[in-house]
Amino acid sequence: MKFFIDSANIAEIKEAHALGVLAGVTTNPSLVAKEGVDFHTRLKEICAVVKGSVSAEVISEKAEEMIAEGEELAKIAPQITIKVPMTTEGLKAVHAFSQKGIKTNVTLIFSANQALLAARAGATYVSPFLGRLDDIGHDGMELIADIAEIFALHGIETEIIAASIRHPQHVREAALHGAHVATIPYKVLQQLIKHPLTDIGIERFLKDWEEAQKSARN
Ligand code: E4P
Repeated sequence: MKFFIDSANIAEIKEAHALGVLAGVTTNPSLVAKEGVDFHTRLKEICAVVKGSVSAEVISEKAEEMIAEGEELAKIAPQITIKVPMTTEGLKAVHAFSQKGIKTNVTLIFSANQALLAARAGATYVSPFLGRLDDIGHDGMELIADIAEIFALHGIETEIIAASIRHPQHVREAALHGAHVATIPYKVLQQLIKHPLTDIGIERFLKDWEEAQKSARN
């Protein structure tokens, strides 16, 4: 499973990129709005740092408008992936993008049937939202497992991005259940790195080292 960062914050993206684990970035209108910056300018900045897929979401609701908007976004850089919501109009747009060789990420997926439809329309990625399903008492991870099984059974190459990740357990389970990618907030990325026993281990090694140095000097 690959790691994407779910963020439009350039400092977070640079920091995650420096770790050498980052295969892409997903943004959405809420994440961009939080930054208070020009969308196209921010996408250019992100694409200068990350060479993997960078998802940029369209805000139009009609297929023709989504296509026009997506074509403009796709001109920004070759790694731009057009993020399209899972709607009737969205599917038409995804189909058009796939004919033009433009990569797509179908977002707001909450059922296996939606994922299958998006894949058949030509989506490069589908993004099932784990956390938002868990929030309403459903099992987000079961959805990942179902989509992974269906795609494997039918030889579908569309990649599954586990999205709406809230904690490290989501990441581990998404990997076990066959997601190709987990797009994770910066905070969760930091949580993945840390373990209390690692910190205790480092502290003990350093203490033992210093004590050995002291005895060698005496
Ligand atoms: C995915 O591409 C979305 O940007 C994101 O994962 C949504 O997560 P949220 O439910 O935490 O807003």
